[in-house]
Amino acid sequence: MSQVPSMRYDARYPGIADLKRRAKRRLPNFAFDYLEGGIDDEQAKRRNRQAFHDVHLTPRYLRDVSTIDTQVTLFGTQYALPFGVSPVGLGDMLWPGAETALARAAQNARIPYVLSTFSTTPIESIAKAALDVCWFQLYVPRSVDILEDMIARVKHAGFRALVVTVDIPVGAKRNRELRNSLKLPFTLTPQMAWQSLTHPTWALQTLARGAPDFVNVARYRTDTSQALSDFISSMTIPGLPVERLRKIRELWDGPLIVKGLQAEENFRTAIDCNVDGIIISNHGGRQLDAAPATIDTLRSLPKDIASQVTVMIDSGVRSGLDILRGKALGAQAAFSGRSFYYGLGALGAPGATQVIDIFRDELTRSLMQLGCLRFEDLDSSWLANSSG
Ligand SMILES: Cc1cc2nc3c(=O)[nH]c(=O)nc-3n(C[C@H](O)[C@H](O)[C@H](O)COP(=O)(O)O)c2cc1C
Repeated sequence: MSQVPSMRYDARYPGIADLKRRAKRRLPNFAFDYLEGGIDDEQAKRRNRQAFHDVHLTPRYLRDVSTIDTQVTLFGTQYALPFGVSPVGLGDMLWPGAETALARAAQNARIPYVLSTFSTTPIESIAKAALDVCWFQLYVPRSVDILEDMIARVKHAGFRALVVTVDIPVGAKRNRELRNSLKLPFTLTPQMAWQSLTHPTWALQTLARGAPDFVNVARYRTDTSQALSDFISSMTIPGLPVERLRKIRELWDGPLIVKGLQAEENFRTAIDCNVDGIIISNHGGRQLDAAPATIDTLRSLPKDIASQVTVMIDSGVRSGLDILRGKALGAQAAFSGRSFYYGLGALGAPGATQVIDIFRDELTRSLMQLGCLRFEDLDSSWLANSSG
C-alpha cells in the first residue's frame, strides 16, 4: 500500500529522459549506441513511444485516494509493483556490474528481474542476489543437450519463471553497431579505445572488473578453435519450431512465458503449447522496422486470448503512466530494458533504484490522479473513447 509518495530519489534526474541524457554523456559511444539502437531507420522504436502517448485515460475525481495499492500477482507470486526489468544481453558492457546491481535493486523492491541468456554474470550469482524475483530469459539452443542442461541449471538455481524469446530467427543488422565495429567477444578497436579513454569512470570500472564475457554459454563451446562470436551465432535455433516449445514445456514445470510474439495465430499456438504468459514485445524496435507498436498489438488482442494467459508488454515503456496505459489495455505488467540501463549509465549502481523509484512515484501519483485505488482494478473503462 502506498501513501502520497515522497520523492526519495535524486531530483536532478526526475524522469527517464533525464537519465538517458546523462547516460549518453557518461557512456562511450559504442556502448550507448548498442543500448539505444533500433533496426534500420529505427521507426519501430519511435512508433513504440508514440503509440504509448496516444493512449488517453479519463480521470475520475470526487473520491478518496489517500491509500493506493500498487501490488500485482503474477503466476501466484505477489510483486510490490507491476513492472519489471526486461532481459538485456551484455549488461556489464553497458555498465560494469549492471546485472548484479539490477538484480539486487529488483529484489529489494520486489519486482521481477529477467536475466538474459547472454548475460555477463553467472546464472547462479544472479539467483543469489534476486532469489524471490528472478526470471530467466532463454534463447533456445539448437542442441537439445544444451537446452536440457540450461533448463536444469536455471531450475537448480531457483529461478521463478522461464521466458522464451522467439523474435530473433536471424541476427539483426543494426547499423549503429556496424558503424562502431562492435564485435563479439568484446574487442577494443582504436576508435573504441579512444572513446573509453574519454569516459574514464566507465573505463576504470571496466578495467577493474575485466572484459565482459558470455559466462553462461561459454562452457558449451566444445570446439575451442571456433571463435566465441561464431559459436554464439550458431548456438541458437534459427526460428523456434513449435515442437521445441512443447519440449521446453515438458522440461520446465514452472511458469513459462513467451516473449516477442505479435501475430494472433502465434498467440493461439502458444496457448495450445500450455504456456502461462506472453510478453508482447518487438524487442524494443531492434528486429523488424515494420513491426507494429506493441501497444497497438495489445489493443487488438482478442479477448479470449487475454482470458487464457497472463498478458504483459514491453518496448517503449518510459514512465509509470505508460505502465497504466498498458494495464488499461489489458497488460497485467509492463517491462523495460533501456530505461533501467539509462539509469545505470547515468548514476552507476544507484541508478537501478532510481529508475524503480521514478516508476513507482509516477505510477502511484497517476493512479491517484485517475482515481483508481488499486492497480489491479484499472481497466478499459478508464480509456478515453478515442483510445479503446
Ligand atoms: C541492448 C539491448 C539488449 C537486449 N538483449 C536482449 C536479450 O538478451 N534477450 C531478450 O530477450 N531481449 C533483449 N533485448 C530486448 C529487451 O528485452 C526488451 O524487449 C526491450 O529492451 C524493450 O524495449 P525498451 O528498451 O524500449 O524498454 C535487448 C534490448 C536491448 C536494448
